[in-house]
Amino acid sequence: MTTREGWGSRVGLVLAMAGNAVGLGNFLRFPAQAAQNGGGAFLIPYLVSFALMGLPLLWVEWSIGRHGGQYGHHSAPGLMDVLGKQKWLKYVGVFGLFTNMMIAAYYTYLESWTLAYVFHSIIGTFSHVNPTEFFPNYVGTSSGSIFTVPYEALFWFLITAALNVWILSRGLVKGIEMMAKIGMPILLLFAVVLAIRGLTLGGGDVGVIQSPLAGLNFVWEPRASGLLNPTTWMAAAGQIFFTLSVGMGSIHCYASYLKAKQDVALNGASAGWMNMFVEVVLGGSVIIPIAVAYLGITAVQEATLGGSGFALGFLTLPNLFNNWGALAPVAGALWFGLLFFAGITSSMAMGQPLMAFAEDEYKFSRNGAAVLFGVAVLLLGFVCVWLYPGGAFDEFDFWTGTFALVVFALLEALIFTRIFGMEKGWAEITRGADMKVPAVFKYIIKYVTPVFIGVIFLGAMIQPDGAWSEAVSGLFQGNGWPLSPASVIGRVFHVGERYVWFENGQPTRALVQDATRTLLLVVFLGFGLLVRNAWRRKEARS
Ligand code: PHE
Repeated sequence: MTTREGWGSRVGLVLAMAGNAVGLGNFLRFPAQAAQNGGGAFLIPYLVSFALMGLPLLWVEWSIGRHGGQYGHHSAPGLMDVLGKQKWLKYVGVFGLFTNMMIAAYYTYLESWTLAYVFHSIIGTFSHVNPTEFFPNYVGTSSGSIFTVPYEALFWFLITAALNVWILSRGLVKGIEMMAKIGMPILLLFAVVLAIRGLTLGGGDVGVIQSPLAGLNFVWEPRASGLLNPTTWMAAAGQIFFTLSVGMGSIHCYASYLKAKQDVALNGASAGWMNMFVEVVLGGSVIIPIAVAYLGITAVQEATLGGSGFALGFLTLPNLFNNWGALAPVAGALWFGLLFFAGITSSMAMGQPLMAFAEDEYKFSRNGAAVLFGVAVLLLGFVCVWLYPGGAFDEFDFWTGTFALVVFALLEALIFTRIFGMEKGWAEITRGADMKVPAVFKYIIKYVTPVFIGVIFLGAMIQPDGAWSEAVSGLFQGNGWPLSPASVIGRVFHVGERYVWFENGQPTRALVQDATRTLLLVVFLGFGLLVRNAWRRKEARS
C-alpha cells in the first residue's frame, strides 16, 4: 500500500503553494494585461476581483482539498466526489485533470523557451541576432507554413519536461517542496536586482528617453475609469484566475496533503497574498518600467497587444538589455532565469494532480505516474509546437487557461456552498484556523463569489466587438449585437474569419483551430471515461 504523503513543514507548504501561483503569469501576463487595460485603471477591478472572487476561491479550494485528502483522495474527481452523494460530482472533477494536463502541455513548452533564452543570453546570441528575428526562427513561424518542427525548441522542451518529471518523481517533500525552497528565493532575488537596475535608469544611460518611473506610475496610479468598463473587469478577473491558479484543481491537490486540523485559512491567504505581492510589486516593476524608459508608453502598449506579454518579454526586453553593454548577458540570464524558476514551480503544480490521479485511482507507482505525465506533456505539447504557426498554442491557452477554469470555479463554488452546504463549508474553512476569517466572507462565498463568476462567464460568452456601452446602446437601437471574434461564441463559430478548411489546397488556420478543439474535446472525454472506469472498478471491489 502507498503510505500517505504529507508536507514537510509549514514554510515548505506555503512556499510550494506560492510557487504554484507565482508563475509566468506574474511577470509576463500581468504587466501586459495592465498595459492593455489602461494601467492604473486595471488595478481597482483587479483588487476587487481578488477580494470577492480570488481569496474566497482560495479558501474554498484549500478546504475541498484538505477535506477530500482525509478520504485518501488527491485529485479533483475524488475530492469532488466526497462533497456529496450525487454520482455526477466526480465528473465535475474531470475539469481538474483536463485543465492541468492541457495547461501543462503548453506551459512546459513556454517554460522551455525561458531555459533556452538563459542559454542564449549567456552565450551572447542577442548581441548580434535581433530577438525579433531569433524568435520566429526558434519557434518555426518564419517558415511561413502552418506546420513546423523546430529542432532546437524541441530539444529544450525535452530537457524541461525531463526536469519536471525528475523533480516530481522525488515526491512532495524532496521534490516539490525542495524546488520551491530553492526557486522562490532565487526568483525574488533576480526580480529585485532587475527592478533596482531598471528603476535607477536615468538620463545618463544610453538610449533612455524618459524616467522608468513613468512606467511605474502608469501601472500603479489607480484610476477610477476602469470601474465602469466591463472589458477591464473581465480582464482583471481573468488575470486573478490565472495568476492564483484557481479553478484548475492544482490547489485542491496540494491542499489534500494537509492533515485534518492543519490551518487552511491563514496558509491560503498567505500564499495568495504572496502571489499578489510578487505580481503587483515585482511583476509591475521590471518589464514595464524598463520598456517605458526606452520606448515610451505607446510603444509598450503596442508590444503587449493580445495581453500575453510574450512579445515584450521575449522580443523587446532582450534587445533593450543590449543597451547595458557588458551586463546584457547577465541581465538576460537574470530575467529568463527568474521566468524559468517561476515557471517550473508552477508546472509541477500541474503535474502533481495528474500523478495523484494515476496513483490513487489506477495504482501507479510515483515514478510510473511521473513518467506517464512527462510523456503526455511531450505528446500534447508537441501538438502546440508543431501547429504553433497555425494557432494551436492560442487554442490551448484560451480553452483551458482562460475558459475551462471559469467553468470549474463556478461549479465548485456552487457545489461547495449548496451541495456540501455553507455551514459545513464554513466549518471546514475555519477548522484549525490560525486567523479569524471575517464573518462577512461566509456571505461573500455563498452569494457574491458565485454571482461574480457567473457574470464573468456570461460576459466572456457574448463579449462584443468594441465597447460594451456602444454595443448595448446599439442593441436598443435595433442594430443587433456585434459579437467579438474573441468571445466564446465568436470563437466557436469563427466569427470575423474566412471560415474554410483549405485554401489553394493548403490547410488553413481555421482547420488547425478546429482540429485542436477536437483534440481538446477528446482529451476531456477521455478523462471522463478514465474517471468512470476507476469508479466502476472501485464499486466492483467493494
Ligand atoms: N498561476 C500560474 C502563473 O501565474 C499558472 C498556473 C496554472 C499554475 C495552472 C498552476 C496551475 O503562471
